Amino acid sequence: MNTKQTSKRRWTLLAIAAVVVVAVVTATITALAFSILERKNEARAPKQQVVALDETTVDPAVWGKNYPAQYESYMKTKEMVPGPGLFDTMSPETRTPTADDPRTQIMPQRNDEDPRITHMWAGYAFSKDYRHPRGHYYMLEDQRLTKRVQDFKQPGTCLNCHASMPTIYSKLGNGDQQAGFDKVNSMTYAEATKYAEHPVSCIDCHDPKTMKLRVTRPAFIRGIKALKASQGVTNFDPNTDATHNEMRTFVCAQCHVEYYFKGEGKTLTFPWDEGIDIDDIYSYYQKEGFTDWTHGETGAPMLKAQHPEFDIWSNGIHAENGVTCADCHMPYQSQGAQKVSDHNLTTPLKTVNASCMTCHHASDDEMIKRVEKIQGRFVHSRDQAFDALVQLIADIKAERDAHGDTADVKRAWEYQRKASFYLDYVYSENSHGFHAPDYTQRILNDVTDACRKGQLALKGVSDEQMQPSENTLADDKKVAQTRG
Ligand code: HEC
Ligand code: HEC
Ligand code: HEC
Ligand code: HEC
Ligand code: HEC
Repeated sequence: MNTKQTSKRRWTLLAIAAVVVVAVVTATITALAFSILERKNEARAPKQQVVALDETTVDPAVWGKNYPAQYESYMKTKEMVPGPGLFDTMSPETRTPTADDPRTQIMPQRNDEDPRITHMWAGYAFSKDYRHPRGHYYMLEDQRLTKRVQDFKQPGTCLNCHASMPTIYSKLGNGDQQAGFDKVNSMTYAEATKYAEHPVSCIDCHDPKTMKLRVTRPAFIRGIKALKASQGVTNFDPNTDATHNEMRTFVCAQCHVEYYFKGEGKTLTFPWDEGIDIDDIYSYYQKEGFTDWTHGETGAPMLKAQHPEFDIWSNGIHAENGVTCADCHMPYQSQGAQKVSDHNLTTPLKTVNASCMTCHHASDDEMIKRVEKIQGRFVHSRDQAFDALVQLIADIKAERDAHGDTADVKRAWEYQRKASFYLDYVYSENSHGFHAPDYTQRILNDVTDACRKGQLALKGVSDEQMQPSENTLADDKKVAQTRG
């Protein structure tokens, strides 16, 4: 072999090596790129469709075949595990099942914890049975078995927030959700609940074809449209006009809100036409002339508030910063490259690290202490307001027993009605003041103020004499300006 030939061979070998190297590198890069793409897609649209889902798929177990991680955490709402913090939000009592109530575990009675409740709600179903909430898994059976349903006649309207509804609306309304909703409301509860198969399910919050978040409750769709209109946004439809971030709250706001049954049709209605500050809501009820019940000890026309989580959150610092219900109550869990939203809806104190530290920088203990501090101050003010209300009720009762329903007693009723609604509003809100700490304190101050005025009214002090001072009026004007 001469040198020329050797050199030619070398060049050929080198060329082949180069081609091989390039091929290997290309293949590696391509493979890597594909794998990144795959992981990205995985993170976005987690699973291939194993089963086909459509508008008739109510059973969450079927959805679970396509989305096992979400299904698994969704089913955890069945487990009753206490969390840390000031309040034991999850310690059920065991009970011996009976023929008409097969439950072996049940949440503790709120009425037993605080005898003042029986005065606040004297003469109303709530004073008979009102328990702590537990996981979504139980929402249907807890509603069917409460004494408020067993011993009192309730309308089908109750069902709207305690079952998976889209297929029921479709069935009863022949494909028209609004017509189905009206039908449910006009039925008795006993009749309506026969249609219910499941507690809130995947289909209530997700479009079965695209998995996009959606709202399915006509009461919320009407309510949010009215609320947006009060803020100058007309014809708002959450399913087409809401941002993705808003939807992460709106799916919860279909149920975790203050509501009432409007008119003869018992239409489920959210009182947001004038806005979502408690003064707007109270003013709405005053104009409607709505009354839930007549007070058993004083005869006053009363309003009942219930679980205004969305309403109070709306007035807090987290809402202002775009922090949604899902951010805290459905934190991401990593599963490989997949980001899975925790569907075990419960207290975020069980998951402070995942729930809070995406934005805050503190230890778990420190974060829990911050929550406890807010809740401790809340309980302090709430208890003073509660005592004031019970004292007002006692005074009205005594005046009535002595002199009947005098003009002053009737004036005092108005103050009792307001004080009771405002106290109930923050009492029946389940975060113990956390969702909007200073807003909640402000409301409690209104309660104590209304109780004081009610007691003065009984002494014959005129409404004019109790008018706010010039200073207060000037300050109120400034506040009104900040609210735009
Ligand atoms: C707008 C939605 C909505 C409607 C309508 C509704 N609920 Fe509820 N209900 C909830 C939410 C949210 C909770 C959990 C928060 C809580 O317990 O405060 C709940 C909790 C409950 C509980 C468990 C805690 C307790 O209070 O003992 C029972 C029982 C119950 N509801 C019965 C009823 C009955 C009866 C009606 C009809 C009169 C009704 N619900 C109508 C949303 C609703
Ligand atoms: C269809 C109505 C409905 C929707 C939608 C809904 N909830 Fe609930 N939620 C309820 C009811 C009813 C209960 C009480 C069930 C019981 O006590 O049996 C409840 C209970 C809870 C609890 C108490 C559980 C515990 O461990 O103490 C939390 C927390 C909660 N919901 C958060 C949320 C969040 C966050 C969303 C939105 C992602 C949401 N819910 C959407 C009706 C609803
Ligand atoms: C910034 C975080 C955060 C946001 C946002 C938030 N929550 Fe909460 N929520 C909490 C904390 C903290 C508690 C108190 C838990 C405790 O005391 O154990 C709580 C309590 C609750 C409870 C009572 C839970 C129980 O165990 O009884 C419900 C129901 C609830 N929130 C619903 C909502 C809804 C609905 C929204 C949106 C409108 C929302 N939360 C927004 C942090 C948040
Ligand atoms: C009360 C409303 C609600 C219910 C019920 C619900 N989800 Fe979700 N789901 C959410 C929210 C909120 C998100 C966060 C979506 C986002 O920000 O894109 C989510 C996200 C998801 C995602 C996207 C990936 C992820 O984990 O973030 C999948 C898949 C999913 N849910 C499946 C299910 C399945 C399966 C069920 C029934 C077993 C179900 N969901 C029930 C509210 C709900
Ligand atoms: C997505 C971001 C985000 C998440 C998640 C979040 N926060 Fe916040 N938080 C904020 C912002 C922003 C503020 C307002 C800070 C400011 O402007 O001073 C705030 C304020 C607070 C405050 C002060 C409240 C007040 O009224 O002054 C507390 C306490 C708090 N957060 C606790 C929590 C807890 C507990 C969690 C988890 C359960 C949590 N946060 C989750 C963003 C978040």
